[in-house]
Amino acid sequence: MSETVERTLILVKPDGVKRGQIGEVLRRIEAKGYRIIALQMREASADLLAEHYAEHTEKPFYADLVAYMSDGPVVAIVAEGERVVEGFRSLAGTTDPTSAAPGTIRGDLARDWGTGNIENVVHGSDAPESAAREIAIWFPEL
Ligand code: PPS
Repeated sequence: MSETVERTLILVKPDGVKRGQIGEVLRRIEAKGYRIIALQMREASADLLAEHYAEHTEKPFYADLVAYMSDGPVVAIVAEGERVVEGFRSLAGTTDPTSAAPGTIRGDLARDWGTGNIENVVHGSDAPESAAREIAIWFPEL
């Protein structure tokens, strides 16, 4: 791996899996030119989510976040490429799906359903350091 090649952790969240959007998310990652180097579908346990979202466990939305993320399997993906952490965040769009720009994954594939939860189809690591931490949680073998 050259020094500028990064890895990021991407999740297709339960709403994306249920709505048949796994292929579309993978397509957009690959169309952008990033390489998928690991992929798995699994149910996220409460313990795994507490590790993954460690910085949010005290937030008021944490219980809703866990309920949403436990409502079916997720697909965890490791993608690789130059500046992929920033690049995938840009592909994903902003957190709130209603205001996410058209052309982004959230802008095109997600919306507000009136559930009180933010259902935004994908997660992407927010910095190279978070990516390393999250990849170690989801793919300890890497
Ligand atoms: S913060 O407080 O600004 O750091 O939080 P934020 O970056 O907006 O969100 C952190 C992650 O929590 C998710 N989130 C929610 N999920 C479900 N329901 C509600 N109400 C909710 N509020 C925030 C948000 O999508 C972020 O998840 P990831 O997986 O990182 O995108």
